[in-house]
Amino acid sequence: MTSRERFLAAAYAQKTDRRPIWLMRQAGRYLPEYRALREKHGFLEMVKTPELAAEVTLQPLRRYALDAAILFSDILTIPEALGIPYAFREGGGIAMQGKIENAHDVKKLQPEDVTGRLGYVYDALRLTRAALRDTALLGFCGAPWTLAAYLVQGGSAEGFPRLLALAREDKKTLHLLLEKLAVAAAAHLRAQIAAGADAVQIFDSWAGICPAEDYAENSLRWVKQIIEQLPKGTPVIFFAKGAKDTAALWDSGAQVLGFGSEADLPAIAKSTPQGKAVQGNLGNALLLESPEKTAAAARALLEKMRGIDGYIFNLGHGLLPQTTPETVGALVDAVTHFDVAP
Ligand code: CP3
Repeated sequence: MTSRERFLAAAYAQKTDRRPIWLMRQAGRYLPEYRALREKHGFLEMVKTPELAAEVTLQPLRRYALDAAILFSDILTIPEALGIPYAFREGGGIAMQGKIENAHDVKKLQPEDVTGRLGYVYDALRLTRAALRDTALLGFCGAPWTLAAYLVQGGSAEGFPRLLALAREDKKTLHLLLEKLAVAAAAHLRAQIAAGADAVQIFDSWAGICPAEDYAENSLRWVKQIIEQLPKGTPVIFFAKGAKDTAALWDSGAQVLGFGSEADLPAIAKSTPQGKAVQGNLGNALLLESPEKTAAAARALLEKMRGIDGYIFNLGHGLLPQTTPETVGALVDAVTHFDVAP
């Protein structure tokens, strides 16, 4: 099996020779070759220059036997294409250069034009596709709820209180915003698939801050609307980090659900609908311990997932910048050498 075949087979819950693996944030600051390029270029410059974005996407694939590459980009390219750019704060976090406070702000957003301004993403995917024949290539976007978190808050903030206040006080405006973000996200994913993505992941990184009883109408509904607009036959991975009602996430129509490390993945996998798959969820902080402990923890998770078809190995959240490349190597070796025989 090639990596691409293995990844796609697992996504459709078919048998594989071993577990496929990729890692969220597999391209990034833990790699010296990323930091070397980053010294010469700004993050957004790298994201917007297709040759650089493709190069950074390929960096982890040169080191490790990963089964999928995820395009080096960002979920905040959609807000930027909608006219609200962003920057990094000193000491971490995001500062949006504008925020959505009322219906008037939402009405100014024009999601119809978004793909015209995101051509650099599709160019980067085409370059990466040409360099990777046998590896799965993933595109992605942010879920409307998570994008709204940054837009309404005006950047990162603990618990995103402005988003929660808008959800309580002016649901109509919030839904107008979510609807526009869903239109933009669907168009962006369609264009990424057309440019060669084998699968796409929708990141709802802030699912966990939404009150459980509101999640269906504030997030799930819009994710479902996005997925309905995508071509059948391209698997969609829905990563709703911290979502409380995990069974309800299947209502999105996703082929694969990704889980954070707070979820009991082996238990969830046992009640996965026939033909669907799960992804996750080794704790990313575990990798800061040692290569040996990381490999042992990975084997323990694989053991618990034994016999379950439809499993893609990943972390519960992105690789932390302090992770050593040696530990990532030990993790990938542990997963790719694990005997999956029942
Ligand atoms: O996973 C990958 O390797 C693909 C590339 C990727 C990045 N961001 C690169 C990146 C992906 C899939 C993302 C998604 C993303 N971006 C999410 C959803 C996933 C998650 O982590 O929950 C979110 C919330 C963002 C927004 C964002 N971009 C944040 C919060 C940050 C970190 C800001 C900080 O505190 O430093 C970024 C920057 C970013 N995105 C970096 C990378 C490699 C680091 C930038 C740098 O080099 O300084």
